[in-house]
Amino acid sequence: MSTSTISKFDLQVFKHNQFPLALSSEQEEILKLKKEKNAVILCHNYQIDSIQKISDYVGDSLGLARQAAQTDADIIVFCGVHFMAETAKILNPSKTVLLPDMDAGCSLSDSCPAPQLADYKKKNPDTYIVAYVNCSADVKALSDVICTSGNAVQIVNNVPEDKEILFVPDQNLGQWVMGQTGRKMKLWPGSCYAHVLFTKESIERCRLEHPNAPVVAHPECIESVRDLADEVCSTEKMVSYCRDNSSNTFIILTETGMMHRLTRELPNKSFIAGPTGHCACNDCRFMKMNTISKLFDCLKNKSPEIKMPDSLIKNAQKPIERMLNWS
Ligand code: 13P
Ligand code: SF4
Repeated sequence: MSTSTISKFDLQVFKHNQFPLALSSEQEEILKLKKEKNAVILCHNYQIDSIQKISDYVGDSLGLARQAAQTDADIIVFCGVHFMAETAKILNPSKTVLLPDMDAGCSLSDSCPAPQLADYKKKNPDTYIVAYVNCSADVKALSDVICTSGNAVQIVNNVPEDKEILFVPDQNLGQWVMGQTGRKMKLWPGSCYAHVLFTKESIERCRLEHPNAPVVAHPECIESVRDLADEVCSTEKMVSYCRDNSSNTFIILTETGMMHRLTRELPNKSFIAGPTGHCACNDCRFMKMNTISKLFDCLKNKSPEIKMPDSLIKNAQKPIERMLNWS
């Protein structure tokens, strides 16, 4: 079968740019402002390349939460989505936490409204709630412990054995964790709109073109896609997996921003963005709301700022701190 009949469209292959462009004047200005204001820029792996390049730390949700807990900067500019910036604020109530675009939400977080979870909790008071960090602060405050894709297996393994667990809000991650731990859990029926776009058929087509490339998938992918993967892991672990694996080419099943981090850190390897059923790449529309101009404006104006009532911060702190202690 020829390549053209296998693919509906050309696959996107990412390689290291050996001649990176100099920083733009706006990027230089941001670095200057950051210094003047004693700010730190924390950036998720899915952000655009120009933001990743000027950030102090680029990583997954777990790494970002750890960095947020440790920083001595006065201002945290969070280049990611709303629940991540909220987590940074919960861990640093006295600091100013900025998010370049307040509309940068998350479909997964939206799939678990706090009033519905509160209702479940009222009817099932003994259930132990493990919440994936991709949820609102109100949901965190109702939960017993938080986890990220990087530590979910470890966290669930730590839950007392006599407890019935409800895992919110991602049913795909929850299902994968059940398989890894052998622990039965009730799963909230939420999912990430972007990761569920990868299909068994779209990845099988890609594999026909690159039969030797290991497939690396995020656990938010659906089960039939995860089953095709050589490794299922958080975005941070994708970097170490590809570094330690002797292959030169990998098929990556997560948001496209990840390719920037991978090509920067592993310049001698190539990464194929996993195609969905209808597109060669998979951008999260929320992650892509942050731009260099919005980052500059938010640092300059110290706005938009994450603000939360003290009582909510206090209640959401406990399960996050439990996570940090357990992992
Ligand atoms: P990671 O913690 O693995 O980076 O995942 C965050 C996320 O939002 C995945 O869609
Ligand atoms: Fe949420 Fe999915 Fe975007 Fe991650 S990729 S922030 S889970 S919508």
